[in-house]
Amino acid sequence: MQIVRAKPEDAAALTEIAHAAKRHWGYPERWIESWRDILTMRPEFIAENVAYSAVEEGRPVGFYLLTTETDGLHLDHLWIAPHAVGRGIGRALFAHAVEQSRRLGHKALQIEADPNAEGFYARMGARRVGETVTEIDEQRRELPLLLYDLGTAAR
Ligand SMILES: CC(C)(COP(=O)(O)OP(=O)(O)OC[C@H]1O[C@@H](n2cnc3c(N)ncnc32)[C@H](O)[C@@H]1OP(=O)(O)O)[C@@H](O)C(=O)NCCC(=O)NCCS
Repeated sequence: MQIVRAKPEDAAALTEIAHAAKRHWGYPERWIESWRDILTMRPEFIAENVAYSAVEEGRPVGFYLLTTETDGLHLDHLWIAPHAVGRGIGRALFAHAVEQSRRLGHKALQIEADPNAEGFYARMGARRVGETVTEIDEQRRELPLLLYDLGTAAR
């Protein structure tokens, strides 16, 4: 597995991974449809932000994307293709994202996580600092807001 800078022409492959990874949690298909925009990686979005892919046999199997917002740096995406989960690729991409974040001079990395992924981020050393409450199909949905302190020692 190699971690390489994602290219605009990877947009379709990365979009496919994001959708497949989100489906991995068993959400209803209409929820996936309502998240289509968020899960679509446009070529210019990849070009304008810090995006890296984990590549195996020439094909991306996961990726992350960092965005700079007015309140600092966000890990906007981190997705592993379902066939590649549980093999340390998420950990490797997260460590790479941390390194890039430090290199960019940031002190913290913010993450709005899928509730199912909170345990992963906690394992990586992020801590919950709040939550975003949304509603879908008249159901309350709480998304954990996590912070990774870039001043902490690398794991
Ligand atoms: C969550 C995700 C990024 C983890 O990536 P991964 O490659 O499967 O994780 P790794 O194999 O590197 O696991 C690293 C550690 O985290 C733990 N871990 C992984 N996923 C976890 C989860 N969902 N909950 C709790 N712990 C988890 C592993 O057990 C492992 O622990 P260890 O240090 O004891 O070995 C990946 O499963 C994924 O993309 N899932 C679906 C999409 C998603 O929700 N992504 C996050 C968007 S916010």
